[in-house]
Amino acid sequence: MVVLFYLVATLFAVIELEAATPSPDPCDSQQHTVLSEPLRSVGHVYQANKAPICDRNLVYGWYRFDSPAGNEIPLTCPPANRCGTHTTVWLNLTSNPSANDGVVLTNGCAHFVSPGVTDDCCAWRTNVAVKNCSDYLVYALGHTRHQCAYAFCAGTEVPCPEGYGSPNSDFTPGCEDIDECATGTSGCSQLCENTDGSYYCRCNDGYYLGLDNHTCTEPTPTPPSPDPCDSQQHTVLSEPLRSVGHVYQANQAPICDRNLVYGWYRFDSPAGNEIPLTCPPANRCGTHTTVWLNLTSNPSANDGVVLTNGCAHFVSPGVTDDCCAWRTNVAVKNCSDYLVYALGHTRHQCAYAFCAGTEIPCPSGYSSSNYNFTPGCEDIDECSTGTSGCGQLCSNTDGSYFCSCQHGYELDLDKHKCTDKDECSAGSSGCSQLCINTEGSYYCTCDSGYVLSSDKHTCRVVHTLPSWTIALLAVAGVGAAIAAIIGVVCCMKRERKSWRQVSETELRKF
Ligand SMILES: *[C@@H]1O[C@H](CO)[C@@H](O)[C@H](O)[C@H]1NC(C)=O
Ligand SMILES: *[C@@H]1O[C@H](CO)[C@@H](O)[C@H](O)[C@H]1NC(C)=O
Ligand SMILES: *[C@@H]1O[C@H](CO)[C@@H](O)[C@H](O)[C@H]1NC(C)=O
Ligand SMILES: *[C@@H]1O[C@H](CO)[C@@H](O)[C@H](O)[C@H]1NC(C)=O
Ligand SMILES: *[C@@H]1O[C@H](CO)[C@@H](O)[C@H](O)[C@H]1NC(C)=O
Repeated sequence: MVVLFYLVATLFAVIELEAATPSPDPCDSQQHTVLSEPLRSVGHVYQANKAPICDRNLVYGWYRFDSPAGNEIPLTCPPANRCGTHTTVWLNLTSNPSANDGVVLTNGCAHFVSPGVTDDCCAWRTNVAVKNCSDYLVYALGHTRHQCAYAFCAGTEVPCPEGYGSPNSDFTPGCEDIDECATGTSGCSQLCENTDGSYYCRCNDGYYLGLDNHTCTEPTPTPPSPDPCDSQQHTVLSEPLRSVGHVYQANQAPICDRNLVYGWYRFDSPAGNEIPLTCPPANRCGTHTTVWLNLTSNPSANDGVVLTNGCAHFVSPGVTDDCCAWRTNVAVKNCSDYLVYALGHTRHQCAYAFCAGTEIPCPSGYSSSNYNFTPGCEDIDECSTGTSGCGQLCSNTDGSYFCSCQHGYELDLDKHKCTDKDECSAGSSGCSQLCINTEGSYYCTCDSGYVLSSDKHTCRVVHTLPSWTIALLAVAGVGAAIAAIIGVVCCMKRERKSWRQVSETELRKF
């Protein structure tokens, strides 16, 4: 009995002792830890590139939030990826306790989202106690999971946007533009201009802003970037055969741009200097597959470098006829007086080539001062240029010429050289007996006993006498002639007068 009393008395003594020394009140600032991260705010969207808040190591105890973003754990499910973390912890309470509710036990709910798998506002629970300390609340919180990232949320204010700040630790309310120039946080090495939400740096005259947009550096002479219009920067292509007007001849090697090194080119051709802007026929431009530019017009002088497509017109008879069977990247720049093109090979097959110009080759037998392309094609006078190859006579005609030969010669089968005409064997001589051919002519002769007549063609018989008869006749003839002359001369001298008288008398008789 005594023992029992003693026990009861002791028990009362213990109870009395507890009442005398009041149990510690978590509202007492000594009894709780203050958490002040504003990043726990529901208004703070977690940035994936920053370390998330993780309450894995939060020691179970009493905590009070004292944050510029707000001091209460939310009572509704916050979105995931808020509160500076991924998994947001809230309290499933309809309202916070009032001042005389004492310590209220409740559940902290973790809102866990795994996209496409789960979105659970209370994926797991943690035991939480809350007490209303009149001016503030205190919470008994502790870690429950070893995984991260999850954290208790507190407050609802939103961080000020970049370039804005507020007296509320740069959270709403009261966000205002930060004047980085005035606060000296700009980092501008020379001049600073504030803007709403930002700023920019400027430089004094004679300096320029570096790539970091902050530091100004003294100008260093930078070489101007090479201009493809500069004659050192492009290659000149001058084949007039690239002309759209030039029909590719199957017996010629086609132009092939298979080995054209990618670079800037300028056409300087008598046939024209521009790549056509409409689809040329196949088998032109000295090739089979003609490459043109699918542009409505060439660039103007201030368009700079214009990028476009080269289109290859490929024809396979009966199979395909495609004006843009394949493309190649082409750049064009208007250099005022001429265009330059950035061209390069795209295919390993041949024959394809870039076209340039539209002039037409002069027809055979015509030439022009324009490298024998139109305009100005005129007949070539092969006779006077000495290119005819005629052996003797040459006659020019429109677009051609022909050779002929002098009398006594005839034109060879090559229509150029002349060879002696053998009138004797051709039977055209007209000689009645013998015919002797000579270079360029012939003559007739006669058999023995005949002589050539004065027509030089016919022969006639000779009448032969003994030679002494001829001599005798000759002597007699000569003697008679001499005698006659002497007689006449002397008689005329002697009878000159009388002869006249006689003659006059004689005449009178009649
Ligand atoms: C505590 O409860 C009282 C009502 O009893 C209320 O007016 C007060 O706002 C509460 N304090 C907090 C921090 O919720
Ligand atoms: C919050 O608590 C209530 C009452 O216990 C319960 O019905 C409800 O499902 C809870 N909410 C969540 C999201 O778990
Ligand atoms: C500098 O400013 C330009 C234009 O505003 C911007 O594109 C660039 O990213 C900036 N460079 C740096 C290093 O911030
Ligand atoms: C370059 O452009 C100008 C107009 O800016 C134009 O008059 C000129 O003909 C063009 N040059 C060539 C080669 O197309
Ligand atoms: C040329 O370009 C235009 C516009 O891009 C396109 O509609 C047209 O089909 C092209 N022409 C050819 C022949 O590919």
